[in-house]
Amino acid sequence: MKHILIIGSANADYVIHTDRLPRLGETLPGRDFSVNIGGKGLNQAIAVQKLGGQAAFLGAVGHDMNGALLLKAMADQSISFHGICSDKESTGIALITVVKGDNCILLHPGANSCMRAEVIQEKKELIENAAAAIFQLEIPPEAVMEGIRIAHTAGVPVYLNPAPARDLPENIYPLIDYLIPNEHEAAALSGVEAETEEGCRENIRFFREKGVKNVLITRGEKGCAYHEEKAVHFCPAVKTTPVDTTSAGDTFIGAFCVQMLAGRNIHEAVKYACRAAAITVSRPGAAASIPTADEI
Ligand code: RIB
Repeated sequence: MKHILIIGSANADYVIHTDRLPRLGETLPGRDFSVNIGGKGLNQAIAVQKLGGQAAFLGAVGHDMNGALLLKAMADQSISFHGICSDKESTGIALITVVKGDNCILLHPGANSCMRAEVIQEKKELIENAAAAIFQLEIPPEAVMEGIRIAHTAGVPVYLNPAPARDLPENIYPLIDYLIPNEHEAAALSGVEAETEEGCRENIRFFREKGVKNVLITRGEKGCAYHEEKAVHFCPAVKTTPVDTTSAGDTFIGAFCVQMLAGRNIHEAVKYACRAAAITVSRPGAAASIPTADEI
């Protein structure tokens, strides 16, 4: 089986649960502190692997305790690691506050910033031989753009999760096979709200006019908006009691990519990915909450 290559971030997630966010200057007791495996890139790699794909991960960690934790997680999941172990930068950290199931995240990129365009060029062959390449925006943008160009030129399907949202060069849009933002990221890129069905339709039109082949907007408890040619469809989310939404989007992307490569049509793949994301939301943690194919 050919590998699915995920090029992106790896973080140690420092998570604390609370009933409300502290105000500036205020100290508030939290509960259920944990240090978890995370990073959008690594979460997506774990989703691919748990859901039946063969994941390869190109990213960076530091030579420290958290780096060792992330490398062990990859080894335990049989994910091949092709990245950097930096002596200069510490492993990326995400400070995650979970409030009533929802979360906010503050990032220290650390070693993720070592992912420069040169690192990507050195791995050209790995990219060219992938079944698909999945990117996010938690590593330097020039590395993402270089990876996308190499993958597209080699005919490798490009999946981009533009998270966290930042402006993309105009000439990159036509190289993207699947653009998968959430509604906030879609709105940040297009300038058009994406919370309503009409807003999703407009966003899909916007990105398609820029040259993106397929656009899927993840909508949290509302599910997913996507299209087949010009017809826009809305897949409802599976109802669940949210415990922690961290990595729901990452699960969706990994699940969707594996299903598309398995030859499912877009409707089946979206439905499956929505189910996978609902399970992730129903339990705590990032990578640890991602389900296996059997659970779905
Ligand atoms: O998408 C969730 C991830 O975003 C977390 O695991 C955290 O590391 C941040 O990168």
